Amino acid sequence: MERKTRLGKSDLVVNPVGLGTNAVGGHNLYPNLDEEAGKDVVRTAIEHGMNFLDTAFIYGPERSEELVGQVVREYKREDIVLATKGAHQFKGEDVVFNNSPSFLKQSVEDSLQRLRTDYIDLYYIHFPDEDTPKDEAVGALKELKDEGKIRSIGVSNFSVEQLEEANKDGYVDVIQGEYNLFKREAEKEMLPYTAEKGISFVPYFPFASGLLVGKYDENTTFDDLRAKNPLFQGEAFKQNLAKVDQLRPIAEEKGVEVPHIVLAWYLNQPSIDTVIPGAKRTQQVIDNLKTLDVDLSDDEISRIDNIFS
Ligand SMILES: NC(=O)c1ccc[n+]([C@@H]2O[C@H](COP(=O)([O-])OP(=O)(O)OC[C@H]3O[C@@H](n4cnc5c(N)ncnc54)[C@H](OP(=O)(O)O)[C@@H]3O)[C@@H](O)[C@H]2O)c1
Repeated sequence: MERKTRLGKSDLVVNPVGLGTNAVGGHNLYPNLDEEAGKDVVRTAIEHGMNFLDTAFIYGPERSEELVGQVVREYKREDIVLATKGAHQFKGEDVVFNNSPSFLKQSVEDSLQRLRTDYIDLYYIHFPDEDTPKDEAVGALKELKDEGKIRSIGVSNFSVEQLEEANKDGYVDVIQGEYNLFKREAEKEMLPYTAEKGISFVPYFPFASGLLVGKYDENTTFDDLRAKNPLFQGEAFKQNLAKVDQLRPIAEEKGVEVPHIVLAWYLNQPSIDTVIPGAKRTQQVIDNLKTLDVDLSDDEISRIDNIFS
């Protein structure tokens, strides 16, 4: 099904199911990634109308942007909505966050080079730093927007207070933050704020790194970033799997699978216009697009809500 939605008050029109690409060349996050398989994931997304691609400098680092950029060049640039992020600064062995105008401007130039494109559709400040006033940081992105280097402005991992400061002049189009059925903090203050201000909220880890897909059991083990994730440890892992099991009958009644009702549930939340599940295989991309055929009734929305509330 072809469906498009506008991100907040920006000009960006995207498929409500996009693609997170931290497993495309994200060698620092996942061991043994095959780069060609990653590029195939991106190609499959674009060819199936999943036009919204989410990458970042730190995935790799640099490599995800490079690989995504290589694939984007195979298609018409205007058919793709490309989002990337910056703020990580390497200082010897250490990584710090930097939101200073000069650092952000240089980061955008570097991302443009790696993506091999003339403009970035959505540029996010990936993490807040401690020093830079947030409206000043966003002011730097506004200048880049006026110069045509970026088309819209995003922030990520900002608190509501930081977002308010960042959005003092009304320039923020999108915020990306962690949100999924296990992590619902954003419902308290963030989603009401973004809904009121016309800012789009893009939830990351929508599957809680795969846990909400419904394919793991208590014997599944992990050798990547999930090995230390509290959701995947001991008794908590078992309880979480039991909650995911309760989603199965709801999905079965609708003739779909667990990931589809999970993604559809987010799309019913205020100010969530699109989701960006990650994928390591082309089949996962195609499968996640089945979400577009799912309409949840009010009763189904509250049944899902109750399992995780
Ligand atoms: N702003 C930030 O700070 C931030 C932080 C984290 C992530 N992000 C963004 O958010 C995106 C999404 O997060 P994520 O990819 O880390 O986690 P996620 O979307 O919660 O989970 C993705 C994982 O779920 C599994 N999966 C996905 N679709 C599936 C399907 N249809 N069937 C079976 N398994 C499926 C795959 O894992 P397996 O194949 O290994 O099971 C996949 O790698 C990232 O790619 C990134 O772009 C942003």
